[in-house]
Amino acid sequence: MSSIGGFTEPEATPLALLLLGQESDPLSERGVDCPGSLPSPSDPELVARARAAKAALGERVFVLGHHYQRDEVIEFADVTGDSFKLAREAAARPESEYIVFCGVHFMAESADILTSDDQLVILPDLAAGCSMADMAAIEQVEACWRELAAAGVADSTVPVTYMNSAAAIKAFTGRHGGTVCTSSNAKASLEWAFEQGERVLFLPDQHLGRNTAVRDLGLSLNDCVVYNPHRPRGGLSTEQLRSAKMILWRGHCSVHGRFTAESVTEVRERIPGVNVLVHPECRHEVVLAADYVGSTEHIITTLEAAEPGSAWAIGTELNLVRRLAERHPDKQIVFLDRTVCYCSTMNRIDLPHLVWALENLVEGRVINQITVNARDAHDARVALDQMLALPGVTAPKD
Ligand code: 13P
Ligand code: SF4
Repeated sequence: MSSIGGFTEPEATPLALLLLGQESDPLSERGVDCPGSLPSPSDPELVARARAAKAALGERVFVLGHHYQRDEVIEFADVTGDSFKLAREAAARPESEYIVFCGVHFMAESADILTSDDQLVILPDLAAGCSMADMAAIEQVEACWRELAAAGVADSTVPVTYMNSAAAIKAFTGRHGGTVCTSSNAKASLEWAFEQGERVLFLPDQHLGRNTAVRDLGLSLNDCVVYNPHRPRGGLSTEQLRSAKMILWRGHCSVHGRFTAESVTEVRERIPGVNVLVHPECRHEVVLAADYVGSTEHIITTLEAAEPGSAWAIGTELNLVRRLAERHPDKQIVFLDRTVCYCSTMNRIDLPHLVWALENLVEGRVINQITVNARDAHDARVALDQMLALPGVTAPKD
């Protein structure tokens, strides 16, 4: 074990190497094992190889890049956007045989649901999952619904499921008359849901559900209860289930959940006059302390419209904040928290994996294809179509 200053490097055990990103655990990391030869990150030809593979594939391939992706990957994206916009972009590109999704697993699933059967969706690293989506397993959600039925409230409850969820959860939502939502249309989704029933089961992000219900719909915190899937009946009494307006699934984003109200206070002291703009996946107290709240696309358009010379502290993923700071040198744009806050699963997609996926396609080999089974795809599509039918919900623009 070596020590530099106050930092002690872990020993070179398999676990330590795994934490350092130098090993793989095939049991927990789906698809980390890359058949063939994954290019080395230090290969000086990587950029040229990516360009050559994309040129060889031409119109047959369409590369989508989520805003939280690394710069080295975004450089090769044909379009960038949030998860909703990217799913729509994939659907609007029927001539492309291959959709290479540089994002995380649930996004690639949504793209597979919205594209034709002839189009193949590829996730360059299958280990690019999402900890929030993983917090709601279909067996847990089905058990929750049975408990709501036993309490006599399932018939008057409408499921609303955030885009950041597995296809099976979206399918559950479609089967039970609910809707999918994104952070840009969560308000319209909840308004629609309260026209259909008395209460909402909001999955899987408790913070987006609470923030939207309280900030945008004027409900009180007392109208919200948190359903813990690891406790009998979610840890709630029958009376609590009956009187709640919002039953919030106990899930959160491990990136946005790290911002604190203290970081807002700290940045206001450090930069007088700073505007604090945060994503609604942040905790409620952070949203209350901020000046503005909005989805990834909203954050981008707000900074585009901001006055030169203005100062902004942004509470969302670090790759995007760094890119926005570079794009707007006339504005002071800082990251809300001093600690590093990359989304580790988004970062799994790097240039070596992208090159590996593209070069295999050139050779006629399809690797890491994401497919949703026909039943889930059908039922999830019902919930996605319901979202698209909401008043005022359209595909976000560039
Ligand atoms: P959007 O892509 O919808 O902005 O969601 C943020 C996020 O956390 C994506 O993983
Ligand atoms: Fe999931 Fe949060 Fe990462 Fe988005 S930023 S992929 S919600 S863990």
